Amino acid sequence: MFERKINEKGRLEIGGADTVELAKKFGTPLYVYDENHIRNMMRVYRETLQNEYDGNGLVLYASKAFSCMGMYAIAKSEGLGADVVSGGELYTALTAGFPPEKIMMHGNNKLKDELTLAVKSNVGWIVVDSLYEADILNNLAQEAGKVQNILLRINPGVEAHTHSFVQTATPDSKFGFSVADGSAKETVKNLLTKTNLCLKGFHCHIGSQIFEKQSFVLAAEKCFSFLADLKELDFEAEVLNLGGGYGIRYTKDDPDLSFSDYADFFKSLIDAVKSACVNRNLKRPYLCIEPGRSIVGEAGITLYTVGAIKEIKGIKKYLAVDGGMFESPRYCLYGSKYEAVLANRANEEATEVVSIAGKCCESGDLIGEGFNLPAAKSGDILAVFSTGAYHYSMASNYNRNLVPPVVLIKDKKAKYLVKPQTYDDLIRNDVLPQSEK
Ligand code: LLP
Repeated sequence: MFERKINEKGRLEIGGADTVELAKKFGTPLYVYDENHIRNMMRVYRETLQNEYDGNGLVLYASKAFSCMGMYAIAKSEGLGADVVSGGELYTALTAGFPPEKIMMHGNNKLKDELTLAVKSNVGWIVVDSLYEADILNNLAQEAGKVQNILLRINPGVEAHTHSFVQTATPDSKFGFSVADGSAKETVKNLLTKTNLCLKGFHCHIGSQIFEKQSFVLAAEKCFSFLADLKELDFEAEVLNLGGGYGIRYTKDDPDLSFSDYADFFKSLIDAVKSACVNRNLKRPYLCIEPGRSIVGEAGITLYTVGAIKEIKGIKKYLAVDGGMFESPRYCLYGSKYEAVLANRANEEATEVVSIAGKCCESGDLIGEGFNLPAAKSGDILAVFSTGAYHYSMASNYNRNLVPPVVLIKDKKAKYLVKPQTYDDLIRNDVLPQSEK
């Protein structure tokens, strides 16, 4: 979907800004986001919920895809909620002024401190994923003199077609209570006895980077069959969160979905929810979804400067860039594929196939392989597409490299969302042994 606009100088643009100028001004590596794209995707989901389901629900931005104060501010201004999965994400959201009642907290092993912060800050819902957690949470809510709204994470048992590391609803998953083996129902009985917890409903998430509508529809149907089964306990769910996971385009092999395709995607899910309610004679629940990747993934690119070039005759050519697995970890983790262009010569024909190496001291440190590019020279600016999700949020200081800054383009102008790290940031919490007396 990302429109590869090239200006009269033959340079790649993002949001109307010249990427070569951005690289000059802010340096590389640099994460760049197009604010309009982010907001448009948020609106697609929010408006579809409004039009197709009378707005009876909430679109929660899955902030693990890209979390920083500015992102929570954008999500807030678009009327979205936020899904957070750690004390750190929660703290960032709250500090950015995100309304706590629109926050849903996840995690298969939330720490007591994280739960304490969630309860104290009055988050809307906490998604319980173990009885161990339910006990801690019940006590914390009691101490705070309140009743905490919760959902229960269930595993509907759907095998989605995606990388096994990001499948979450197979029988062998660390997440959720299985519907199939009866443990979800047993857990509901248990939770209904907790005096300071109020079970509002259920949450499921089948995985990430999934294109088959059918997988989502199947998961929704399995959830409703479970909800129907709970009538036996005299329990009717008010809230159902069907998670995120909609795929994006990384390469030409992936479907190229437009904004309206995403709207259709969500509409199919809503249609499945509506007919399941009719078929099973259930009240329509307050419906939540949690897209992350599809909101920010294609909105972001990463800019690099090409440095050393190494050609191994008859084997391959490596372009080394000033980034690497510390800021682009997905190739190393999942073998993910990307596309790239030389941003300063974006009109030129691709003439060779190269591997792009990072600067870390590790052979596996690649941005990826099989990139079709014109013959690159040291100093060229390389732009890698669809890096907006799970790049900055998974970045590290491996090899004591600095996490790149993030800029946001709005009305052709760039401003920092995250300022550059400095070497002083790296040693800020270091302690020399001899100074510890
Ligand atoms: N809700 C829950 C409970 C999740 O676990 C996730 C993603 C989402 C929502 C958002 O899914 P999305 O719409 O972004 O696909 N690091 C991996 C992705 C891990 C996804 C984790 N959970 C990657 O880079 O591909």
